[in-house]
Amino acid sequence: MTLTTPQIPLQSDQQQERDDYYATVIDSVGDGVIVIASTGCITLCNPAAEEITGFSNRQAKGAEFEKLFAMESTLVDMVSKTIRTGITISDQENVVVRSTGRITPVAVTCYPLVQGSGENIGAILTLKDITYIRELEAAVRQADRLSTLGTLAAGLAHEVKNPLGGIKGAAQLLEREFPPESEMLEYTRVVIRETERIDHIIRELLELASPRALRLAPVNLHKVLGDILLLQKQAVADREIAFIQHFDPSIPEIMADEEMLTRLFLNLICNAIDAMGVDGRLTVTSRVLSDYRMTQNEKHSRMVAIEVGDDGPGIPQEDLENIWTPFFSTKSAGTGLGLTICHKIVSEHRGMIKAESDSGHGTKFTVLLPLVR
Ligand SMILES: Nc1ncnc2c1ncn2[C@@H]1O[C@H](COP(=O)(O)OP(=O)(O)OP(=O)(O)O)[C@@H](O)[C@H]1O
Ligand SMILES: [Mg+2]
Repeated sequence: MTLTTPQIPLQSDQQQERDDYYATVIDSVGDGVIVIASTGCITLCNPAAEEITGFSNRQAKGAEFEKLFAMESTLVDMVSKTIRTGITISDQENVVVRSTGRITPVAVTCYPLVQGSGENIGAILTLKDITYIRELEAAVRQADRLSTLGTLAAGLAHEVKNPLGGIKGAAQLLEREFPPESEMLEYTRVVIRETERIDHIIRELLELASPRALRLAPVNLHKVLGDILLLQKQAVADREIAFIQHFDPSIPEIMADEEMLTRLFLNLICNAIDAMGVDGRLTVTSRVLSDYRMTQNEKHSRMVAIEVGDDGPGIPQEDLENIWTPFFSTKSAGTGLGLTICHKIVSEHRGMIKAESDSGHGTKFTVLLPLVR
């Protein structure tokens, strides 16, 4: 008679079920969770932590935390202190996690992992991605800066407006005085033309600083965009520019000021066209973002995202933060007020605007506008 070893299941079905359940719970947490044993080895890394750190669960599991996160000395210090002392440590402000090609600002808390018996057997690190909070803070700083500059510029514009009216009036009188063949006539016309140009800038500046109230009505965004694209296509018919549009047909009308939105998108589309040479691709896309959060406390609201992209030379990294500043322009005939006005129009519609660009790889402006007001 041969004796066979009975097959003893390593885990009962019930226990397996419970383990699966706990694994699902941890995997479903939206914040990153990394568990570290008292030996310093990682025992668990949930999908949100994989996303933030760039390490897969398989890479992380069994690895020494200190080695894997050698670049993040703050995290390493927090974990080793919690394992040593059993206290909870938190840093909501100063920590970033570097993974390949990305730096994610995070709010971190490190809890001791305590057994039923009270023994400290490791640490649990939670990482909350706070990129959008940082973006929002930057947007608020930008808005503050613009409002100060706007007020200053408007003050100046007021002062310039009256003498300018005088110059133009006098030049118009002179124009009538000179005989048609006089050389002076051309000079006088230059004066008139240039005062008109200054006048245009001043009017834009004053509008920037003293807003008219929004005239809200249901607006069909695709009609606004379609009309602008049609006109601009004709205006650059002599160049090889491809106009590509991808509109999400499910986007309903939004409550907005049509004239202002036209101005906004005309500015962005003209900038894109200006940036391209004799040929290029201009892409305008619309889509709905269903769970965009404007602030931490505000409920999830539906936003519509409109992107205007071009394959021009792009905006150098050092210019990116200046493009919203009044009078920042790299064009010989640009006033540099276009994007300042765009920023203001979007803020007044309780939306957001951002620019992404890679030198040499084109530029993309994204406008987010709330769908329900
Ligand atoms: N799509 C783009 N590609 C490359 N650079 C851009 C693009 N859009 C804006 N810029 C840069 O940002 C600057 C500011 O743009 P903005 O629209 O405010 O002013 P402008 O176009 O120069 O003048 P205007 O007041 O006539 O619009 C531009 O001069 C340009 O350097
Ligand atoms: Mg412009």
